[in-house]
Amino acid sequence: MKLDFLFIATVFTVSALDNPYGNWKPAGPNGVRGPCPMLNTLANHGFLPHNGKDITENDTVSALGSALNFDEEISRLMHKFAVSTNPAPNATTYSLNHLSRHNILEHDASLSRADAYFADPAIFNQTVFDQTRSYWKGPIVNLKEAVRSRLARLETSNATNPTFTLSALGKTFGLGEIAAYLAVLGDIPSATAIKARLVYFFENERLPVHLGWTKLSVLSKTDFTDMLQRVANATEKVSGEAVEPVKRDSIIGLHATLSE
Ligand code: HEM
Repeated sequence: MKLDFLFIATVFTVSALDNPYGNWKPAGPNGVRGPCPMLNTLANHGFLPHNGKDITENDTVSALGSALNFDEEISRLMHKFAVSTNPAPNATTYSLNHLSRHNILEHDASLSRADAYFADPAIFNQTVFDQTRSYWKGPIVNLKEAVRSRLARLETSNATNPTFTLSALGKTFGLGEIAAYLAVLGDIPSATAIKARLVYFFENERLPVHLGWTKLSVLSKTDFTDMLQRVANATEKVSGEAVEPVKRDSIIGLHATLSE
């Protein structure tokens, strides 16, 4: 009996070490989640605190590092953005629901959430996501399709939401979210992603490991800024509208916004 227990415990431990993505659970009754499908995913997998609360800089660096191979510099910068949504003065941590506070980082015309005017942006919205994915025509999503789907979401929000707004920061975040999913879930050189993996990720807030997804070898601020520039260029090409150029030394000057 004792030996059986030891065997089962060992098998579980070895498989958890083997597959750090294996331990997935949606939020419990006291857990919080927010509008970022990736941070929700990392909490669901237990890379971030599972309850989604009081996330420290070390938590962010360790989660983005071990789950996705983000380097420390970009992880620290992203933590800073996240903390800017915590309503407590001089906060150093954040909870995932803080990210839903409208027009700090959270913005209208999301890819998988209704605008805050209509519903809680922490909650995945199938109708909104169906509009986004209707622009992803084949099994591989390319940069143009990714950009077109965002532009369509912007048009719809603009036409239907009487309070529609998009700040400069919101615009940049919108481009950054495309850069993020293409880089992290897709392939950087070709700026494409396998549609089934994207759909699974958005709809389940879970990493598509069973569909063959593996983490990048590393993602630095420069890698991310390069991808962001490609998304900005493609947006300009598709929409015909000028898009702010990406600043090399920061993520589109967001750094400056934070330290103002
Ligand atoms: C500490 C790190 C991060 C912070 C603070 C953060 C914050 C946010 C926030 C506030 C939103 C909501 C924007 C909106 O209104 O649509 C968002 C959306 C999003 N995030 Fe994150 N995020 C982080 C990391 C990541 C990473 C690593 C990825 C990689 C795939 C990612 C992918 C996305 C995507 C694809 C969306 C768009 C969701 C939608 O439009 O429905 N995020 N993020």
